[in-house]
Amino acid sequence: MRSRRSCLAVPGSNPRFLEKAQGLPADEVFLDLEDSVAPQAKEEARKNVVAALRTGDWTGKTVVVRVNDLSTMWTYRDVIEVVEAAGDALDCVMLPKVRDAGQVAWLDTLLTQIEKATGLPAGRIGIEAQIEDARGLVAVDAIAAASPRLETLVFGPADFMASVNMKTLVVGQQPPGYTEGDAYHYVLMRILMAARSHDLQAIDGPYLQIKDLDGFAKVARRSAALGFDGKWVLHPTQIETANEIYSPSQDDYDHAEAILEAYDHATTVERRGAVMLGNEMIDEASRKMAEVIATKGRAAGLTRTTT
Ligand code: GLV
Ligand code: MG
Repeated sequence: MRSRRSCLAVPGSNPRFLEKAQGLPADEVFLDLEDSVAPQAKEEARKNVVAALRTGDWTGKTVVVRVNDLSTMWTYRDVIEVVEAAGDALDCVMLPKVRDAGQVAWLDTLLTQIEKATGLPAGRIGIEAQIEDARGLVAVDAIAAASPRLETLVFGPADFMASVNMKTLVVGQQPPGYTEGDAYHYVLMRILMAARSHDLQAIDGPYLQIKDLDGFAKVARRSAALGFDGKWVLHPTQIETANEIYSPSQDDYDHAEAILEAYDHATTVERRGAVMLGNEMIDEASRKMAEVIATKGRAAGLTRTTT
């Protein structure tokens, strides 16, 4: 499992940011050719991104390039230029504003052709699909099933709010007038269900008020509580907060490892399917919950502090 607690957006048009991103503790870095790059800068951004992939040191990070969406004239060249020149340095291609399964299938086919033509290993490059409008959300199950290359579904709140005419310009905040519940709950849960039913990760999108770290943490805690695996970060100051919020706590991690150990002993040595661990009854369902937390904790580099 790749850790994606923090996914740092880096504009492909800014060589200084491309350089700086390499030293930051984000789990994933995505080099952007889409909405953070002005139309006039798109072609130069491709060259910057290829150079950064070729010469940069991205050790320990999941490395992704976000191409332009399929309604533009740029997408095919984005994929071809970046993957032909630097496919071996790339973990995934992110496709924004995905509206149906066919768009993911298109990217899968193009990647397969480039891999064949350039001798890259078949099927190694993954796909991240952004769900950013009503069409994409309605089709999210089919999108999640569209390619074995898919690794994550990513919520794009800014584009999504525009698409459904939500009555606020502040991403992540509740629209004024909505006094009950959480206006994003349905969308987040819908994406999470589609992701989990196809063994994909679910990633929350950006929080644009980059000076408001408390606001960022509040929004991040919401999707982390539901089960999301991580969130975009737009600024270095958001990285540590995301890494902490999307990691299990040390107590939960220790508890999860203890359950796994006790349950393994119970089933293999004692041949029992339900046993007591302290005051708690554990069974196969407890093992599954513990496995999720232990896997996330290990991926986040936690080690056990209790035995
Ligand atoms: C991200 O791409 C967003 O639209 O929020
Ligand atoms: Mg977007």
